[in-house]
Amino acid sequence: METRTWVEVEDYFTDQLVRQDKPFTDALKRQDEEGLPNINVPSTQGKLLYLLAKMIRAKDVLEIGTLGGYSTMWLAKAVADGGKVTSLEVNPRHAKISTENIERAGLSGRVDIIVGAAKDTMSRMVTDWRGRFDLVFIDADKENNPVYFDNAVEFARPGSIIVVDNVVRNGKVLLDGDSEPSVVGTRLLIEHASRDARVESTAIQTVSGKGYDGFMVVRVKD
Ligand code: SAH
Ligand code: DHB
Ligand code: MG
Repeated sequence: METRTWVEVEDYFTDQLVRQDKPFTDALKRQDEEGLPNINVPSTQGKLLYLLAKMIRAKDVLEIGTLGGYSTMWLAKAVADGGKVTSLEVNPRHAKISTENIERAGLSGRVDIIVGAAKDTMSRMVTDWRGRFDLVFIDADKENNPVYFDNAVEFARPGSIIVVDNVVRNGKVLLDGDSEPSVVGTRLLIEHASRDARVESTAIQTVSGKGYDGFMVVRVKD
């Protein structure tokens, strides 16, 4: 199957179904102009994050990995009134650009970006955040996925959803014993999820304009 079809079908769904507001496409344009990597979620997946958040009427969302704020904006658009997206980002420049993008989208009141290594932020906030979040989106450095996941389960409540991006990486997830830290991290994350009796999980493989990848969806049991 040629990737040309993947891109065309992706564009078709984006045009017909995603129908994103201008600030969203502007945010991607700006992210690109500022030289940030083009590693945001595809628009179809951004819309899925939005739909999932709406389905569970999420109020409090935690994101790990902000980049230019594109996925943050989808989540912020979805949260119920009085809701909040807390997004963790290690790179101050990414945090600055995403803050501006979020501002232009009129979503500032619903987003807090915390600059710093997510692991440190999470360990500092463990008391405040236990049982707090309705949805956690994990999308930062993949080697830390197991830590992020274990924390996410602590920060969730019964019925919360955890989504983890990029768990397929062109099939690299199958490379057991690989030395690439991102692959090791993702395989460990899957092991944690599979062993953890508090959650039930699946993973979906995807193709899009961004190639062959996938994401995991986890629900914390009642
Ligand atoms: N969620 C974004 C994409 C995030 S890309 C979207 O879909 O639009 C991954 C981001 O994680 C980058 O901005 C990178 O700077 C950040 N990151 C990498 N390591 C991190 C760490 N240790 N702590 C917090 N953020 C990190
Ligand atoms: C990378 C990170 C992502 O979150 C993504 O969606 C794609 C690629 C990366 O670090 O290469
Ligand atoms: Mg990603």
